[in-house]
Amino acid sequence: MAIMMEVPGADGLGEAVDALRRWQQDGSPWQLHPGDLGWFWRSGAEATAAALRIWRRDGRILAVGLLDGADLLRLTTAPDVRQDEELARRLTEDVITPERGVLPAGKVAIEAPKDALLQDLLPEHGWRLDEPWTPLRLDLTEPVQDPGVRIEVIGAEQGHVHAAVLRASFDKSAFTTERWHAVASGLPYADARSLVAYDDRGDAVAAVTVWSAGEGKPGILEPMGVHRDHRGHGYGRAITIAAAAALRELGSSSAAVNTPSSNVAAVATYRSAGFEALAENRDLARG
Ligand SMILES: CC(C)(COP(=O)(O)OP(=O)(O)OC[C@H]1O[C@@H](n2cnc3c(N)ncnc32)[C@H](O)[C@@H]1OP(=O)(O)O)[C@@H](O)C(=O)NCCC(=O)NCCS
Repeated sequence: MAIMMEVPGADGLGEAVDALRRWQQDGSPWQLHPGDLGWFWRSGAEATAAALRIWRRDGRILAVGLLDGADLLRLTTAPDVRQDEELARRLTEDVITPERGVLPAGKVAIEAPKDALLQDLLPEHGWRLDEPWTPLRLDLTEPVQDPGVRIEVIGAEQGHVHAAVLRASFDKSAFTTERWHAVASGLPYADARSLVAYDDRGDAVAAVTVWSAGEGKPGILEPMGVHRDHRGHGYGRAITIAAAAALRELGSSSAAVNTPSSNVAAVATYRSAGFEALAENRDLARG
């Protein structure tokens, strides 16, 4: 049977989240995670559903893509069909053809796992490698060290604190308390925790959200930031260690993150917290 692509309705989100959960495994190259959908949920369930593209064969979901902005598709597949030629050809046709409603004409990019056949096909259509990203990973078999600062798990009544630290961490951030609640209302948030680190004076200085994909699977940090007035005092390292500990408690086998290699401070911070930098990966871009 032919492969079909669909845009799920809001009631189809659960199936996509479940597929992404199942596909996470240690040793797999960096790939779209249920936490990425969870973080996208800040725009609401309807917008998250509208940004999703799902490919099926015989009813089975083979690939899930998230339009993370109008010009970036973040895509992954079930592990056993990474090299499936029919799927790779269909995905290629769909992403290079604007009329198919996946990516628009002009300058666009795709993030896909390194071992996906799509990576070999797109360059045949003139796509090139984009800027390098560094995936980092911490094994969670052994307990994590103490972060050394006060860490709070943030509940609904403290969402504004988490939102304010993130706003003060990322340039041009439009993150609000309302958006924090939208994230917390999302399906993937059942396996997530928001943490805030406090300094000795009781000021909220760093924030992270961690996303588990279930017992024995890699979890991710998204996003992580330190308030711009409080950088250079070890809070980035501390909140990252706290994030790893929270993921371990949620049953994750490892903590993972992917950051542009140009974000030297972030790469240094994750390494300082014990993460190992893996081989760089690059999006494929056109235009
Ligand atoms: C990245 C960020 C979290 C670092 O926070 P921080 O509190 O200043 O970091 P720390 O003080 O804990 O430093 C941790 C390590 O990173 C290093 N580091 C921090 N900033 C650095 C910089 N600009 N350049 C080089 N190294 C840097 C420190 O020297 C330290 O290394 P060490 O432990 O080996 O001495 C902060 O700059 C930030 O919030 N940036 C914007 C948001 C962001 O990019 N988040 C990550 C997205 S994936």
